[in-house]
Amino acid sequence: MSIAYELYHKAATYIEAQLGSNNKPQVAIICGSGLGGLANCLSKHDKTLIYSDIPGFVKSTAVGHAGELVFGEIGSKKVVCMKGRFHCYEGYGVSQATFPVRVFKLLGVTTLIVTNAAGGLNPEYNVGDIMMFSDHLSLPGIAGQNALIGPNISAFGERFIPVSDAYTKQLRELFAECWLQKPELNSAITLHEGVYGWVIGPNYESRTECRALRTLGCDAVGMSTVPEAIIARHCNLNVLAISLITNKAVYEPESSSIEAAKARLAGLPVHKKTEVLANHEEVLEAANLAAENFSKLIIDFISN
Ligand code: 6GU
Repeated sequence: MSIAYELYHKAATYIEAQLGSNNKPQVAIICGSGLGGLANCLSKHDKTLIYSDIPGFVKSTAVGHAGELVFGEIGSKKVVCMKGRFHCYEGYGVSQATFPVRVFKLLGVTTLIVTNAAGGLNPEYNVGDIMMFSDHLSLPGIAGQNALIGPNISAFGERFIPVSDAYTKQLRELFAECWLQKPELNSAITLHEGVYGWVIGPNYESRTECRALRTLGCDAVGMSTVPEAIIARHCNLNVLAISLITNKAVYEPESSSIEAAKARLAGLPVHKKTEVLANHEEVLEAANLAAENFSKLIIDFISN
């Protein structure tokens, strides 16, 4: 179901009335699972709005997602932070999930920074590493879950848009520069650039799905960000998307039950592998551990 221009406009008008005219944000940050602490680092805190008070904003129901828009400054830039985002697995359509992005556009935002927690598929990625998106694989998009479906709102952008350049190269280069120039941060956090595979969730992927995503070229997998990035590119925002790798996706096939049965019957020892399967506690814990350094990097990036 698509959303009419009027509702985006109504939300922007409401926010502008709360903010006053010279506090309009230039940069919007969408904080992923456990990464909302970034919003507490704004140097000048102007205003906090609750999602439920803003026309068109739905409720953020996921644990680790507060449900507040926080306005303030980082360096000389006016910033709005979404503490908590909307996911399709909460039952929201892609238009509802991406609603805030177009509202940000109407508020005057030119750059969108999106963070998320993701599972690492690339065997070289470790828990606590971060990955700038170079590109994405949108399996739901290919299969028909795309927020651009429906009447095109030409006030935002054109009917047919490329996403070959979805993640602004210049922003990635600047982010990498910031990271390289901060020894205390680049020794603490490993930075990668890779491909994010978007899945709807809420279950984590099966082993075979993980292998399929890896075979298809994905380095990380998660349940967000791609719809927001596509809507942002449609209305010509610059986008920087970054994943915090919170766990390594499990994609080795299980060992054979038939071989185990044979071994047991023959009185031989049966080997059990212990693997940590993906779980939300682990994801939040890893996000909390890395959040401080990750926030520092983003603040440094915006300040510059
Ligand atoms: Cl392993 N999968 C998905 N879909 N989302 C995640 C994740 C994995 N780890 C953190 N978020």
